[in-house]
Parts: sequence; C-alpha cells; structure tokens
Amino acid sequence: MIVYGTRYGAAASTSEEIAKILRQEELEVRVVNAKQEKVKGITEYDLVIVGSGIQIHRWTKEPEKFLQKFQKELAKKKVALFVCCGSTQPLDNKTDKAEAIKNAKTKYLEEKAAKYHLQPIALGLFGGVYNYNKVPWLFGKFMEAIKPQLEEAGVPQTEPGLYDTRDLNAISGWAKELAQIVQPFP
Ligand SMILES: Cc1cc2nc3c(=O)[nH]c(=O)nc-3n(C[C@H](O)[C@H](O)[C@H](O)COP(=O)(O)O)c2cc1C
Repeated sequence: MIVYGTRYGAAASTSEEIAKILRQEELEVRVVNAKQEKVKGITEYDLVIVGSGIQIHRWTKEPEKFLQKFQKELAKKKVALFVCCGSTQPLDNKTDKAEAIKNAKTKYLEEKAAKYHLQPIALGLFGGVYNYNKVPWLFGKFMEAIKPQLEEAGVPQTEPGLYDTRDLNAISGWAKELAQIVQPFP
C-alpha cells in the first residue's frame, strides 16, 4: 500500500509511478490519497510506503497522522518513506547541492522515521514540482521570485506552468529495489 499527501501533485504522481513499477513486478498495489480516504487497517499489507510533499519544511498532515495512528503496527512491518521536495535541486547559487540533499534526508525522512520509532527499509528523497497553475496567494511572491531561477537552472516545464525537478528514473529504480525486497524470487 502507498499512502501519500500532496499539495501540488508531485507526491500523487510519484505514488502512481511507484505503483506502476510495483505492478509491473507482479505485485498488487493500493494507492491511497490520505486527504481523501481514511485507512482502516494495514494488517494485510506486506509493504507500506508513506510519502508526502514538503512545504516550508513540513509534511502534509494526513500521511503524518497515518504514521502516528499505525506506528505500533508499522514498527513490525516493512515500511518505506519518501518525500517530494525542492531540496534535491537548490535554485540559488549559494546552496551546496550535496549539503542540501543531506540535510533534507535527515530532516524530512530520518527524523520522521525516528519520531514514529520506525526503521524503514528504504528512504526516497525525490524532487518536486513548482505548479504555477496552483499558487496559493500566500506564496505568490515566492513563486514569482523563483521563476527566473527555475528557467536558468533549466528545470523542464512538463506541462504549461508546471516545472518538474524530479528524476523519474530514480523513482522507478527505487520502486524496483523495493519490489525485490518484498518479492525476492518472483
Ligand atoms: C510555498 C512552497 C514552499 C516550499 N518549501 C519547501 C521546503 O521547505 N523544502 C523543500 O525541500 N521544498 C520546498 N518546496 C518545494 C516543494 O516540496 C515541491 O513543490 C513539491 O513538489 C511539493 O510536493 P507536492 O507537490 O506533493 O505537494 C516548497 C514549495 C512551495 C511552493
């Protein structure tokens, strides 16, 4: 099962990409948008993947609530966490990329796992999307300020107004490794 929370769509399409790969590896997958659906139980799942987009250093509420609610059961299961975030591709010249990635992994993934006493079998730090079709008024200035930086960094616009910093190969590679752990001899 994949449980995710998203604000701009990156964690949703990342979850679908992971699900697609797992299905290609003959696994049955349920994908849950935690904002729209409440999970009642997790007993039947061999692997639980929980993911979120990041905004101002925070996960979305719902997948975090899921981690909290099921933490005891999750501690006995195979769990993987992922986030979609901007830190994989810093947009200013001052930030060191390796340092940004290391900090994001610690803050968004390792600390989250520790908070809920989990020992995930995998942590996925993926890029994100900057969606100019869905800018909350609060962040309008920030989004306008980073637009030239996105252009300058050569971040592709995968749809009009949608700059995508994700590496889809990294996402599918991560999913394939998970499939092998869950089902080593298909
Ligand atoms: C207002 C705003 C704040 C953001 N804050 C952060 C941040 O603190 N750290 C980070 O790594 N990425 C940050 N990002 C980049 C997002 O993580 C990226 O847009 C991602 O796609 C969000 O995931 P979602 O589309 O699933 O919601 C921010 C993006 C926006 C628009």
